[in-house]
Amino acid sequence: MADSRGGPLVLGIETSCDETGVGIVRGHTLLADAVASSVDEHARFGGVVPEVASRAHLEAMVPTIQRALKDAGVAASDLDGIAVTAGPGLAGALLVGVSAAKAYAYALGKPLYGVNHLASHICVDQLEHGALPEPTMALLVSGGHSSLLLAPDITADVRPLGATIDDAAGEAFDKIARVLHLGFPGGPVIDRYAREGNPDAIRFPRGLTGPRDPVYDFSFSGLKTAVARWIEAKRAAGEHVPVADVAASFQEAVVDVLTRKAVRACKDHGVDHLMIGGGVAANTRLRAMAQRRCEDAGITLRVPRPKLCTDNGAMVAALGAEMVARGRAASAWDLSADSSLPVTDPHVPGEPPAASPGHAHHPHAHGHDHVHEVSKDNLYS
Ligand code: KG4
Ligand code: ZN
Repeated sequence: MADSRGGPLVLGIETSCDETGVGIVRGHTLLADAVASSVDEHARFGGVVPEVASRAHLEAMVPTIQRALKDAGVAASDLDGIAVTAGPGLAGALLVGVSAAKAYAYALGKPLYGVNHLASHICVDQLEHGALPEPTMALLVSGGHSSLLLAPDITADVRPLGATIDDAAGEAFDKIARVLHLGFPGGPVIDRYAREGNPDAIRFPRGLTGPRDPVYDFSFSGLKTAVARWIEAKRAAGEHVPVADVAASFQEAVVDVLTRKAVRACKDHGVDHLMIGGGVAANTRLRAMAQRRCEDAGITLRVPRPKLCTDNGAMVAALGAEMVARGRAASAWDLSADSSLPVTDPHVPGEPPAASPGHAHHPHAHGHDHVHEVSKDNLYS
């Protein structure tokens, strides 16, 4: 164990969607963050094509691992463990990462840690802002997920409070960008246009904010339809579509709901730290509104820099290092990819080592009474 030198040295592999990410960390210190993205190959299809993603991972895997080791200036033999996203995500894409991680771990004689993609998105903030307070509230918003998670222990206890019942937040950005002919991915370009527009120009609906609606769940499909109809009506009338105002008003509706529900979750659960992760956390309006609303509520906001918010290997390494540091059981060699791995399983442990029964993992020890798991349908649908 490398604790005397600042924590375990762990390599993390992420292939759940279209990014082949390989990161290396020592404890909370980021040493390398190599990412090869196939996003350009998907752009002409307007969304991620699973088969294209899997093939791109295969081609990028070994060079990306080599680049990460070189960037970190460490030898593979120095590693204390190898972590990999075991799920949730695209089955074929995950399989490439899991197979590579197994091969490297087995050949090098290192412990293997199959970890949860969503828990990794939370844990990555340790590389930016140091140890995560326990519990932490996390709002994860990307093209594949929109979840509110309460994390009393990022390695063993993550509880879903709410999730989207239809589109993910990033997906809504991507779809509206398509309607506006702005290209893919839509988030960054809508963010840019919105800066020139008026967020109050059009009052678009705020999904699931009525008195009888579920408090922590999200819905973006009604908003998406409302925006598309508004644009169609303008076009049908032969009128100019004010792209900046539409972008700003749409973005305002998304960000308003996300921040309102996240702050409410913190208050309801007595949590004074909110972390926001996932690709949509790069959104400038989301960052600004979350900052203001958190300040007003006495909550400390933690948002990693954009490169750590989007899918990357460093986040997987960060969670793997935490698993090693806390003595969690390594995964078994028959670890498999699980496209719908529940968020309640931060990692996929094998049999706990006989020498340390105290570290046995109890993934279902906590109550599920008032929670529901992130539906498979919310992922990459
Ligand atoms: O985390 P990520 O790289 O991949 C997954 O989907 O897991 O997130 C990508 C998503 C895309 O939907 C993209 O449009 C969105 O994040 N995104 C943004 C911004 N940058 C990326 N959405 C809003 N504003 C942004 N600045
Ligand atoms: Zn992600």
